[in-house]
Amino acid sequence: IKKIAVFTSGGDSPGMNAAIRSVVRTCAFMKIECVGIYRGYEGMIEGDFLPMNARSVNNIINKGGTILKSARCEEFKTREGRQKAYDQLKSEGVDAMVVIGGDGSFTGALLFNEEFGMPVIGIPGTIDNDIFGTRYTLGFDTAINTAMEVIDKIRDTASSHHRLFFVEVMGRDVGHIALNAGVGAGAEEILIPEENLGLERLLESLKRSKLTGKSSSIVVVAEGDKTTGKNVFQLKEYVEEHLPIYDVRVCVLGHMQRGGAPTCFDRVLASRMGVKAVEALLEGKSNLMVGILDDDIAFTPLSEAIKGKTKIDKELIRVSDIMST
Ligand code: F6P
Repeated sequence: IKKIAVFTSGGDSPGMNAAIRSVVRTCAFMKIECVGIYRGYEGMIEGDFLPMNARSVNNIINKGGTILKSARCEEFKTREGRQKAYDQLKSEGVDAMVVIGGDGSFTGALLFNEEFGMPVIGIPGTIDNDIFGTRYTLGFDTAINTAMEVIDKIRDTASSHHRLFFVEVMGRDVGHIALNAGVGAGAEEILIPEENLGLERLLESLKRSKLTGKSSSIVVVAEGDKTTGKNVFQLKEYVEEHLPIYDVRVCVLGHMQRGGAPTCFDRVLASRMGVKAVEALLEGKSNLMVGILDDDIAFTPLSEAIKGKTKIDKELIRVSDIMST
């Protein structure tokens, strides 16, 4: 292998720049060439490449977003699109690639490998923490800290006005952000897709909070939660109707959770994963994702990473239940 391409694809996440830096610098260390691809598969199809050396990635370890930009690409889902991408990579002399992204990005990479034999290693980058084969995805730690800090601020004003807030956090299909940020910020209740709390129990719990003298209440709701059949705005109406003792407000945190400087944890994780990704390619490995399990780097076949389910931390759910007493 003489030249490795690196790109970010799908939704961005804090720590992607640190991972790009790690891949580029490891290539430089190993004395092989590295090229960045702008805008993920879209840029691959258009041949939007950037030759990179150790100095191209100065001062980015602390930056949110991705200097290579990211995109979700429809054309790459077609055989013609992938052929164009392959032709571009070949004319650039690329002979292996590192994709930093989520399951959609890995699915594309796997198909591409099947069709053209291009060796590929994946680095899991998404704030949702929903990729099988790694305890942590890049950006998750930053996102839960961002969400927690914002919820802390919401609690200040909630408490001044004796209010109840429904705070919606990201997590398309999973509740990892909600559960962790919720426990960290001391939420009264946390609604996640993995556990059906039920509306009755929510009302009971809110009633108890009021009776036992709590000055404010925060309910954290994962955006992907369907267990109550209601979104945050409908939940507000429901509680106002059934528990008129509450003055209720809603706050949807949205994309702020995807931005900002990565935490030290995410920077270190990204640095470790980038090194291993390049080393794996040089050892002749392919179709694997670099993950972290029990604090050690572990490889999982991309095919399992995209199909497997991540488990919610049941013990943390129990902790949350006890804390809401
Ligand atoms: O997968 C990461 C994520 O931020 C989800 O939590 C969220 O549902 C989705 O991406 C939002 O996607 P977009 O930025 O395309 O609106």
